[in-house]
Amino acid sequence: MMKYILEIIYLVASVTFILGLKFLGNPATARKGNLIAAFGMTIAILGTIFLYTDSEGNHLHNLPFIFGGLLIGTIVGWIVAKKVQMTAMPEMVSLFNGMGGACAMLISIIEFQHLQIELAQDIIPEDVSYIIGEPVVRPIIGELSTILIGMIIGSISFAGSMVAWGKLSGKVKDRSLGAQQFINIGLLLVIIVAAVFAVLQNNANLFYAVLALSLVYGVLFVMPIGGADMPVVISLLNSFTGVAAACGGFLYDNKVMLVGGILVGSAGTLLTIVMCNAMNRSLLNVLIGNFGGGNKAEGVSSSSIQGTIKEVNASDSAILMKYAKKVIIVPGYGLAVAQAQHVVHELEEVLEKEGVEVKYAIHPVAGRMPGHMNVLLAESNVAYDKLVEMEEINPEFNTTDVVLVVGANDVVNPAAKTDPSSPIYGMPILDVENAAHVIVNKRSMKAGYAGIENELFFKPKTSMLFGDAKKALTELVNEIKSLS
Ligand code: TAP
Repeated sequence: MMKYILEIIYLVASVTFILGLKFLGNPATARKGNLIAAFGMTIAILGTIFLYTDSEGNHLHNLPFIFGGLLIGTIVGWIVAKKVQMTAMPEMVSLFNGMGGACAMLISIIEFQHLQIELAQDIIPEDVSYIIGEPVVRPIIGELSTILIGMIIGSISFAGSMVAWGKLSGKVKDRSLGAQQFINIGLLLVIIVAAVFAVLQNNANLFYAVLALSLVYGVLFVMPIGGADMPVVISLLNSFTGVAAACGGFLYDNKVMLVGGILVGSAGTLLTIVMCNAMNRSLLNVLIGNFGGGNKAEGVSSSSIQGTIKEVNASDSAILMKYAKKVIIVPGYGLAVAQAQHVVHELEEVLEKEGVEVKYAIHPVAGRMPGHMNVLLAESNVAYDKLVEMEEINPEFNTTDVVLVVGANDVVNPAAKTDPSSPIYGMPILDVENAAHVIVNKRSMKAGYAGIENELFFKPKTSMLFGDAKKALTELVNEIKSLS
């Protein structure tokens, strides 16, 4: 009876995961989606703890350990998530993802040991055949394969996520060995061959060798990737963790684990593809390209573009914006750095009071993580319907009087459309130059993530409002207020 109740709980939990994901697709319902999926996860965990019985009718034991672990994990996770700064979000996602990979790895290690005990006690029926000289118990090949696949993918995800976390928090530098890609491919082949033998021979030494090599591979795989490319890699590692968890679902014949793992695996893969498409880069280019990267980009000057820069001050910008009919604000990475989301919202309100229509243009890879601008602006209570996606807003620029670009660079760089030699060529951008006036706020003429110059800054209709976004926008707001 309990078994059937548990199956129903798993079914309900699986449905909540799917609904949760659906709701997470829209900022207005995302919070609800998170709660729905968390509810599903809670009933699945509690159902397993209290209702699971094995074939001999035994319940789970070690309850103090289980609840101790749950309590510690909940407290640590709660505190970390409460304290995290929005700019440190990718780091936290990476750390949590690494923990998921570690869980999948540990499950495989434990289940490998269980299997050996069951074999030694003759619990598993013998059906010995000889594949590569060694006796092999056929029924365990499927189980062993699942254990090894989960262990390899989980440990790569764990080690890779830890390196990604280290890089994003500035503790680990980008490092590449000579011929890194050949070493990585060679190592991966060794892991695959050793894993096949570990399964066919049920060889414990090989099993642990594969574990160690997979951890090394996880480190080498992520080490050379440019620091700022980490969000793409984290999303990829996220999908690895999902697949590793799905292997656990197969192993335990646990449907909710399987569904959860598959959802994470496929969502992570889709997000990786969407991010790569939005940057017009192949995944291979992200993995081996070492493109961008904060430090390289910072120092680039803008010497090779012909033209002059027109500077504007806060008071002239205020006049231009106050008397505009329509203003579009383009937020970028600099807005997040300056933490200017609240003052940008204030600017929107002040302009609307003056009868100006204000919208935000959201590029899919503005900032440094998926949905970065949406999350940032939601924090300052900007209405969701004012955030307009790139495809939708692009046709509106030619009916716009003023575009205010705040700390964005690559996502408004016309080279993406005009210069085939540019690393961002082909990336869809926001067509801000179609507006009557463009005001760009940034601190200097330094490049953005892609490390390239931006012709937009030299166009006759562009004016540069130099300064830290928070400071410059505060001045702008005060100037507009003083005009009223
Ligand atoms: P970027 O091209 O990186 O440009 C940001 C600009 O902000 C810089 O040029 C910088 O110029 C300015 N800035 C920095 N701090 C500032 C501050 N305190 N006040 C005002 N301005 C400041 O940003 P973007 O246009 O948002 O483009 C995002 C880039 O990141 C794209 O190339 C994208 O492919 C890449 N990327 C995105 C993601 C995701 S998922 N979003 C993941 C990986 C890579 P100054 O130094 O002169 O101020």
